[in-house]
Amino acid sequence: MDRSGSEETTAPPSVKGDARTTRLAIVPSLLSADWTCLREQLAEVERAGADRVQIDVMDGHFVPPISLGPVSVEAVRRATRLPIEAHLMVERPEQHVESFLRAGAEWIIVHWEASLHLHRLVRTIREGGGRPGVALNPATPAALLEEILPELDLVLVMTVNPGYSGQAFLEGVLPKIRRVRQMIDRIHPSCALEVDGGIDATTAPRAAQAGADVFVAASAIFQHPQGIAAGLRLLRQSLATVL
Ligand code: DX5
Repeated sequence: MDRSGSEETTAPPSVKGDARTTRLAIVPSLLSADWTCLREQLAEVERAGADRVQIDVMDGHFVPPISLGPVSVEAVRRATRLPIEAHLMVERPEQHVESFLRAGAEWIIVHWEASLHLHRLVRTIREGGGRPGVALNPATPAALLEEILPELDLVLVMTVNPGYSGQAFLEGVLPKIRRVRQMIDRIHPSCALEVDGGIDATTAPRAAQAGADVFVAASAIFQHPQGIAAGLRLLRQSLATVL
């Protein structure tokens, strides 16, 4: 539902001239990168103005595939100066956050659905020198963030069911992005609102209108027919249309 939709009675956040728009960030997800030439790919996203990079960590349980781990974070750490965020799509994230911090990830994002002791886990990330984020799957209600939000640097609203790149953006998540934006503005305005899944030059502005300020994209950047720099530039340009 976009800005013109009448699904919500509360007005969406003002976008024009809003302080939020001065810090919209683009985060390439390395899941779709060509790891045979990782250093070059990282140099290219850095030159093209990426704000940081995301490493998708999948354990074969929380989500079906198995992907990257701390060794991948160490390799990326050696190859770029960009900050790294680790998106932990894993069961029992408390067993893993320290190894990702040691490997060089600055931001650690854990799933609300994966932790019974989220408050303790978020504190562990903070005390380990990391910046904590919490991700919500598409079916997880925004309201569940209320108590943990003051502790967070970032909320990640998944706009696909996690596990695979190249999936279609779920339109139905837009009202939830608006609700999370309202909650952040009310409770903890410095917290970032990230979206991830099906983000491209068409969907990113819609998510931005709904209140997102950080945009993760894998295929729209690394699989772009004109190359990485063009993919990133088009995303950046699409976001300029909501400024
Ligand atoms: C979803 C991952 C995403 C994914 C995004 O499971 O967390 O980062 O790779 O891929 P695209 O941008 O292709 O939808």
